[in-house]
Amino acid sequence: MTLLKKLVSSIQISPDFLHQVFTISDYMARIIRQRGRTDLLSDKVIALLFLEPSSRTMMSFQSAAERLQAGILFLQSKETSSLQKGESVEDTMRVTAGYCDMIVARLPKAGSAEIAANACSVPFINAGDGSNEHPTQALVDTYTIRQALGRLQDIHVALGFDPLQSRSIHSLVRVLAQFPGVRFTFISPPSLRAPDDLLNELRSRSIEFFETEDVSSVRGADVIYLNRLQEERFTDPKEFDLNRYRFKLTKAMLSDRTKLILDPLPRIDEIAPEVDDHPAASYFRQAHNGIPIRMALMCLLLDRV
Ligand code: NCD
Repeated sequence: MTLLKKLVSSIQISPDFLHQVFTISDYMARIIRQRGRTDLLSDKVIALLFLEPSSRTMMSFQSAAERLQAGILFLQSKETSSLQKGESVEDTMRVTAGYCDMIVARLPKAGSAEIAANACSVPFINAGDGSNEHPTQALVDTYTIRQALGRLQDIHVALGFDPLQSRSIHSLVRVLAQFPGVRFTFISPPSLRAPDDLLNELRSRSIEFFETEDVSSVRGADVIYLNRLQEERFTDPKEFDLNRYRFKLTKAMLSDRTKLILDPLPRIDEIAPEVDDHPAASYFRQAHNGIPIRMALMCLLLDRV
């Protein structure tokens, strides 16, 4: 039983909530292994509104809903929906809420998840709102870190290479910042530094962080968390072209210290394919963890566990 009904930002993810999600995810992972499906949500209908491109998040929500035997409603692009005709996000949510028991939405505009959640009368999950937040990715990421290292505290995490625009980085940092002894190194060109509001949150909690342009500083980290430069969010394409190949993880940059290499994917240029067979490279396992995590989250928000 959780009081949380709408997950908009990872600020809402407390260590207690995280613990609850992880425990239920472990249970869901066992169900997947042993019998593939359960009927926990067989009387529910879940709407998946994905108004920005998505592969992993959309398919893992769909797979999670299928494994819980929920009915699924799909709205997949702005072009084929009434948003194209000028309908507001609020009206879309008000109407969709009457067709289902939960809305999972990916919206293109930063901050629009909060507007959508406020307009919707059923449980709501933010599946990414522009460059702002991606809280369910942070659940997947922290679950993968805990699986590999057995802890979330006392870790040094290097994050690159677009901390300005990567919503996955924003959400992960906000969750990890609650654990003692966590340190961050942000790696990026100066133009893609992490947003001031995020850095100020870290300063106000006296959390140690360091900013650098030097990709080889990943050597000092326990966890390397990379995300592609968010090409579609650049206002100046030249800025993207200039940095695209400068920031790439290669095998030579890894050290004995490297315990885990994560990436929410898609991988574009940020990780050389030669890294894939390194024992710390865990991005494909990370993507698969999306299913038990999202099964657990949907059950929690619908009070089914
Ligand atoms: C991320 C996203 O959409 O923000 N992908 C994902 O959800 N797994 C990362 C990205 O697109 O770079």
